[in-house]
Amino acid sequence: MNDQTPVFRTSQLEENDGPGHNPTDNPTMGELIAARFSRRGFLKGSLAVSAIAATVSPMALMLADDARAETKSAFSFEEVEAGIDEKHHVAAGYDADVLLRWGDGIFVDSPEFDPRNQTPESQAKQFGYNNDYVGYIPIDGSSEHGLLVVNHEYTNEHLMFPGIVKVAEGKIEVAPADKKRVDIEMAAHGGTIVEIKKTDGKWQVVKDGKLNRRITANTEMQLSGPVAGHDRVKTNADSSGRKVFGTINNCAGGVTPWGTYVMAEENIHGYFTGELAADSKEAANYKRLGLPEGSYEWGKFHDRFDVSKDPNEANRFGWIVEVDVNDPVSVPKKRTSMGRFKHEGAESIVSKDGRVVFYLGDDERFDYVYKFVTTGKFNPDDRAANLDLLDEGTLYVAKFEADGTVNWLPIVHGTGPLTAENGFASQADVLIETRRAGDLLGATKMDRPEDIQPNGVNGKVYVMLTNNTKRKDDQIDAVNPRAKNAFGHIVEIAEADGDFAATKGKWEILLKCGDPSIADVGASFSTETTKNGWFGMPDNCSVDADGRLWVSTDGNSPKDTGRTDGLWAVDTEGAARATSKLFFRVPIGAEMCGPLMLPDMATMMVAVQHPADGGEDWEGFGRPSYYEDLSTRWPDFKDDMPVRPSVVAITKKGGGKIGV
Ligand code: FEO
Ligand code: CA
Ligand code: CA
Repeated sequence: MNDQTPVFRTSQLEENDGPGHNPTDNPTMGELIAARFSRRGFLKGSLAVSAIAATVSPMALMLADDARAETKSAFSFEEVEAGIDEKHHVAAGYDADVLLRWGDGIFVDSPEFDPRNQTPESQAKQFGYNNDYVGYIPIDGSSEHGLLVVNHEYTNEHLMFPGIVKVAEGKIEVAPADKKRVDIEMAAHGGTIVEIKKTDGKWQVVKDGKLNRRITANTEMQLSGPVAGHDRVKTNADSSGRKVFGTINNCAGGVTPWGTYVMAEENIHGYFTGELAADSKEAANYKRLGLPEGSYEWGKFHDRFDVSKDPNEANRFGWIVEVDVNDPVSVPKKRTSMGRFKHEGAESIVSKDGRVVFYLGDDERFDYVYKFVTTGKFNPDDRAANLDLLDEGTLYVAKFEADGTVNWLPIVHGTGPLTAENGFASQADVLIETRRAGDLLGATKMDRPEDIQPNGVNGKVYVMLTNNTKRKDDQIDAVNPRAKNAFGHIVEIAEADGDFAATKGKWEILLKCGDPSIADVGASFSTETTKNGWFGMPDNCSVDADGRLWVSTDGNSPKDTGRTDGLWAVDTEGAARATSKLFFRVPIGAEMCGPLMLPDMATMMVAVQHPADGGEDWEGFGRPSYYEDLSTRWPDFKDDMPVRPSVVAITKKGGGKIGV
């Protein structure tokens, strides 16, 4: 979801001031270079031609033919054509089967989905809204039987509820919420844990799975780690400062090496309303997080979301939540040692010495990249011994130097500026205001850090920086080199000595996104990338068992890129480095989340989030989209069924490894 939540929580870029519509029929960079070499002269004339000169070095041009001969992509599939329509599209030779839709029952006694008569109770037993992170925890090591864990990031009322939208002067107006609607929204948030099994090549939900579970904005949770019990997290309902209800805006996430599910609380500011008391000591803290933003109406019916009534409740959100999936009534723990900010995700890897390293993005313009290194070591032989590893460790924030070094600065109370003089009486204060600690340490302001993925095969780390149109010319730096960065970029980190726990590393830009045939965009896809292969706004990502990078996007649109979001396969090695190919694309208005390749590489799970959220700028629809008049009714395409965010299982026809 976009960091600046607009009124109706549409996830399109609401202020993408990039170069505007990019025609999809521009020649590819490869075609242009081929033309140049066929003439054996310098290209002159068209805008597209000058773009090549601007974005590819003369040496690269000279070497292009040779390089092409040596190029060997790690991916082999027939690329999908980029474009826009109401359906999903997958590469030829693959099946994309809808596995779980919003409203699908995940228990034997779940009520049938009845969108016109939805209740909070039925929603709490059904798959939630806006699936984002998708993880898989194998049962007995299987890639065909396991637990699927899925975040439900947020809700789009205008797409979910009948009879609440009025269109005035071409704009959607949503009626004020009543308590029942708010309670349905709260039940549609959180996460799903559900057993799934592949039979005869097709995945199915096991509704009587003993570990199946819905987590919502009301599930009882525990604050753990340094902040637990602190005065700043005590509320009207909880004088212990340890007992919290619910998790919200869970964006990306992770599965730990010991098989627990971690959910990242991202845009928490939108759920809080009211006005903080003028003399509140939380003022600076709230300001730094944009709290309260108030786009949801939960505070009207639940006092804890009204900051004038319960000023500390917001300090209990913005954390990483760990869920022990082996016990369906376990109390999830908010791991405060991992910091409080707009957490995008929490992907992890075991370091050389057995400590576990989590990479954490803070998704807001000019915010930071973090990592967390556990104090204790992972014990692969004793799951229980790992269950509280996340309570102790060191949180670091990244400083990217112009010489290609990245320094990981420890966020530890009492060191450097993190002292009482700056308002930090303890590590708990530092963690509650992690962003302010990062400010004082001089961390590098990034172009909206999204998912960050360590790659255990090549030893690198991939950082998705989705866009930042607010960066001005005098604010560019080496690692964020584009002003008005409308399309984002991907940074690759190599930690010192290949040790993920290192406090230093090297960084370089893997690629700058956007249409490579437009000079002003400054994109840097390889010359092998076709007109379908480029993308903007990288968001979630995943690395498969062969170490190949898959990138999904949020914000491609008819107006900005002439294509919907999708899943792109991105080469990182050898001559094919920075070559990208489109594998799957979503219906109009949707964002591509997930993605997750299962360990045997025979299934790719993807999450289609907020389909039909938009369509005004698509000539196939051309008006506001809402429950009664949707730009797509994916995936059911039935007149009496609304659009439904869904998880899709992609497999190769006849089986086998994907993209090979
Ligand atoms: Fe929820 Fe940063 O995407
Ligand atoms: Ca995201
Ligand atoms: Ca990921």
